[in-house]
Amino acid sequence: MATLAGIRIRRAEPHDASILAEMRARSHSERNPVAPAELDRFRVTCERAFFRALSESWLRAWLAYDGERPIGTASLTLAATLPRVECHASFEPDDGARVDGRVRNVFVERTYRRRGVARALMAELFAEAEREGVDRLALGTSQLGRPLYEALDFVDKNDEMVYRRKPRSAISLR
Ligand SMILES: CC(C)(COP(=O)(O)OP(=O)(O)OC[C@H]1O[C@@H](n2cnc3c(N)ncnc32)[C@H](O)[C@@H]1OP(=O)(O)O)[C@@H](O)C(=O)NCCC(=O)NCCS
Repeated sequence: MATLAGIRIRRAEPHDASILAEMRARSHSERNPVAPAELDRFRVTCERAFFRALSESWLRAWLAYDGERPIGTASLTLAATLPRVECHASFEPDDGARVDGRVRNVFVERTYRRRGVARALMAELFAEAEREGVDRLALGTSQLGRPLYEALDFVDKNDEMVYRRKPRSAISLR
């Protein structure tokens, strides 16, 4: 558990799923116009997803508190992956196990921003990524998140593409 001038940070457990879902819904609605009913459905789905992911341990999450009030969060997803040859290092054969980490759901309540809460949450996340032997830590950022991640030494990597799904009926498997 970490502390930052009265702010306490702790690991989230499956029973925290509703708090995490609430923060995810708030973060989403801050950045995208969404109807209240749609946001409610999103919240319910997220709560189930957080519960399952935390129970299955492929998601690690942290919550920041001011007293009893949850004021921020960050999550890390872990996925097994294949080895890469990095240009700057010679490759030594090993057991081949690699882990991809992805930063998800970073959010701090408006009135608590620019006080280092996200930085403190990310410090917990970095430590966990190190413990889990994460090979590559990546994220997709919002405009608001970009200065934070740049301050934390994330850099743009422009060779990624994202598949834009067509409606189900239009997919043909040939
Ligand atoms: C992005 C967000 C999580 C940052 O949280 P925060 O607690 O305010 O961030 P911190 O105070 O820890 O900032 C750490 C560093 O990041 C940079 N930074 C963070 N927010 C910034 C901003 N709005 N403008 C410029 N730099 C910023 C600064 O370098 C800052 O260090 P400094 O205050 O010593 O200059 C918060 O603005 C937020 O919740 N936004 C809405 C949700 C969102 O967009 N999340 C990112 C999803 S990808």
